Amino acid sequence: MDMDELFRAARRAAGAAYAPYSRFRVGAALLGESGTVYTGCNVENRSYGLTICAERTAAVKGLSEGERRFSAAAIFAPDSVEPVGPCGACRQVLSEFMAPGARVRFGGSGPGRIDTTIGELYPFDSLHDLA
Ligand code: THU
Repeated sequence: MDMDELFRAARRAAGAAYAPYSRFRVGAALLGESGTVYTGCNVENRSYGLTICAERTAAVKGLSEGERRFSAAAIFAPDSVEPVGPCGACRQVLSEFMAPGARVRFGGSGPGRIDTTIGELYPFDSLHDLA
């Protein structure tokens, strides 16, 4: 499973997005350390604050199947030409289950892709000692 394949899984996942309010669809794919890929999409709600991002949907799908570590993540936002990175809440949640060096790729409908790591997206992470 390489990043291209993971990104294609995120692209497919965006097709299930429930985004009637923002009309902004997002798909995510996480590679579990077991080798299983977990995908997710954003799921909005008429009570706007209850919206769940694609990244957290994918993470919770994996975690609830017993996966505890993810080695890579891909995010696809078809309604943006430019790449869209995960929101702050998702960076925090992903950082709980990914090593700082774990790869993250995100992109939109245009050709641009950002290849980075969760440690770059969420530096100076703290509170791991609480676990
Ligand atoms: N969204 C995601 O699912 N992931 C991101 O990384 C950015 C934002 C969703 C939340 C909301 O449904 C819509 O995109 C607009 O913010």
